[in-house]
Amino acid sequence: HLHPRVFSGIQPSGGLTLGNYLGAIKRFVDMQNQGDFETVYCMVDLHAITVWQDPADLKRNTRELAAGFIASGISPEKSILINQSQVPEHAQLGWIFNCVARMGWMGRMTQWKDKAGKNAEAASLGLFGYPALMAADILVYHATHVPVGEDQKQHLELTRDIAAKFNHDYGVDFFPLTEPVIEGAATRVMSLRDGSKKMSKSDPSDASRINMTDDADTIAKKIRKAKTDPDALPSEAAGLKDRPEARNLVNIYAALNEQTVDQVLADVGGQQFGTFKPALAELAVAKLAPISTEMARLMDDVGEIDKLLAKGAEQAREITAPILKKTYEIVGM
Ligand code: ADP
Ligand code: NA
Repeated sequence: HLHPRVFSGIQPSGGLTLGNYLGAIKRFVDMQNQGDFETVYCMVDLHAITVWQDPADLKRNTRELAAGFIASGISPEKSILINQSQVPEHAQLGWIFNCVARMGWMGRMTQWKDKAGKNAEAASLGLFGYPALMAADILVYHATHVPVGEDQKQHLELTRDIAAKFNHDYGVDFFPLTEPVIEGAATRVMSLRDGSKKMSKSDPSDASRINMTDDADTIAKKIRKAKTDPDALPSEAAGLKDRPEARNLVNIYAALNEQTVDQVLADVGGQQFGTFKPALAELAVAKLAPISTEMARLMDDVGEIDKLLAKGAEQAREITAPILKKTYEIVGM
């Protein structure tokens, strides 16, 4: 009886990167347009504040993220587009799940270990509990599918563990075991200066990252400066095995051009980076420039964005309010 429904979110914690676009937003658009799913996409502002956010920046980043979604092809007619804090059932179910999830599960999350670093004592309680709220974001819609980048795989497994433990503890078959959808050539876009680190909007120290609002010259310059090795490109994916920087650039090309890595290499195999990088830059600019132009246009009328988000929140609550009510009943509230 489960209704095929997609939920996914992005934190308004800084400017969108090429990694967010290829690993998440572009795929959100694909799933919306497939027509097989009801799609719900979210600015997860409650997650963003697990680390300090300047209030004015948070507000701006939330609207800019909404503009980024819409400019990339998320249609408020076809998808429900919301800001998390405007749909209170997310946080309400999040509390229930704080009481279902175990401390040990949270402590094993690699993202917690990375983000808290050596000073876990000083991290917020919210940062530690983040994956329980993420489980609530998904399960408060009974979402069946969640498109995400590779870095979210472990959190999706935890979401299933929480659903299973809730169902088991209360003797119900209420929350679905949601499927992660981690697909395409760019499920993990790496930093252009360090092929072992992911490109992230939450890492302000990485000046090599490509932002969706970068102008054409900036994008071209960042790609020109990207770290590479001295060899020519191989003609098959296997030849990229021990070449993380080369593989990253080819993955980006493939995802932007909607090709497989082998299709790209069939064309560019044998080329040096001196030839490949300008072609990649041209492709990236061709795909991103129209989006950033449209984002800027939408940001000229933030009132319109706020109106769309208010409408999205109303639509969302038609789904989330009954699911939360039923959850409370199950729990004995
Ligand atoms: P960030 O780490 O950039 O702050 P979020 O945590 O808000 O991004 O994640 C939003 C979505 O973007 C998630 O689905 C995540 O998996 C995806 N994502 C983030 N960075 C990358 C990347 N470098 N490559 C592919 N997908 C990414
Ligand atoms: Na992330």
